[in-house]
Amino acid sequence: MKAWRIAAGAQVEGLELGDATPRALGTHDVRVRAAAASLNFRDLMIINGWYPLVGKEPIVPGSDASGEVVETGSAVTRFKVGDRVATSFFPDWIEGRPTHAKLATALGGGSPGVLAQELVLDENALVRSPAHLDYAQAATLSCAGVTAWNALFVGGQVKPGDTVVLLGTGGVSIWALQLAKAAGARVIITSSSDEKLARARSLGADDTVNYRTTPDWDNEVLRLTGGVGADLVLEVGGSKTVQKSISSIRLGGTVAIIGAVSGPGAALEPMSLIATGARLQGIYVGSRQMHEDLARFVEVAGIRPVVDSIFPFEELPQACRHFGGGKHFGKVVVSIAP
Ligand SMILES: NC(=O)c1ccc[n+]([C@@H]2O[C@H](COP(=O)([O-])OP(=O)(O)OC[C@H]3O[C@@H](n4cnc5c(N)ncnc54)[C@H](OP(=O)(O)O)[C@@H]3O)[C@@H](O)[C@H]2O)c1
Repeated sequence: MKAWRIAAGAQVEGLELGDATPRALGTHDVRVRAAAASLNFRDLMIINGWYPLVGKEPIVPGSDASGEVVETGSAVTRFKVGDRVATSFFPDWIEGRPTHAKLATALGGGSPGVLAQELVLDENALVRSPAHLDYAQAATLSCAGVTAWNALFVGGQVKPGDTVVLLGTGGVSIWALQLAKAAGARVIITSSSDEKLARARSLGADDTVNYRTTPDWDNEVLRLTGGVGADLVLEVGGSKTVQKSISSIRLGGTVAIIGAVSGPGAALEPMSLIATGARLQGIYVGSRQMHEDLARFVEVAGIRPVVDSIFPFEELPQACRHFGGGKHFGKVVVSIAP
């Protein structure tokens, strides 16, 4: 079989497609014919050398894949041949609180990733895919979907009628838009592009703000909420947005700290937290239980995650360049097999 490999910081040009041998099937393992994988900002961070990896050796990148079970070890009970499955971002975080050990083996980071034609994983590292999703859609749940789920419903405790602010129209935010609307929340979303904001409205966004033409978008959120502020902000922006996210919430509201697309290293004004009673909630993807809860909700609500584009397996570098260019809306996917 073929697999992509990258050494941390080797840039897109350093991606290499070569032969690989999957590990031997253990009694609790499942062999999956990979069908699709979706890209995450983290994959770009690894490729660009902005993400701490343990070793210097090249690794198979990627954390989110979907595919079909083609063989099961003799002790496997959770899956059978023919099942459609997706990878769990943290193979060892099944449920409950995270621990260092549970987080140490993340796919495409602490463990080999998924940009390969065949995957051999412990049965506990897989989740059944929602029946109505195709492979490309099913490959978007593991990281972006679970992160949005965790930020909204586990860390963020969103209730129907709450107001949620989403920053930009990337993978996490568009997943959160679809989930929040299906759960009866009001969504205010920002973007640098009016065209993308129109697409967000067609997916149900209640209010939209262009953060380029309205740099003080936090004031606009306050205006749109009658001066009260939002219940929850999914903060993916980092240094340029985190203080504005805090300014956008109601007294006692929550800012889910997720990412840093505008750069890390933000300085926080302590008074802004004291004065608002704000709650900052760090989010690190989520457990397999959260992935299963997400998959169940997606099936019941009939949600189809937004796939921006699909690139052939051999064109992973082109997919990474497209993703890094920031023109996408939702998820960028690599098709591994039909
Ligand atoms: N903590 C976790 O577990 C976790 C999990 C997943 C992702 N993340 C992090 O979350 C962030 C987003 O990930 P993603 O996969 O959704 O990335 P993505 O698909 O690349 O989305 C990036 C989007 O962010 C928007 N953006 C850029 N600069 C912005 C700014 N100054 N203000 C507001 N929006 C801005 C842009 O939207 P427009 O084009 O619409 O302007 C851009 O398309 C990344 O930092 C990633 O590392 C963290």
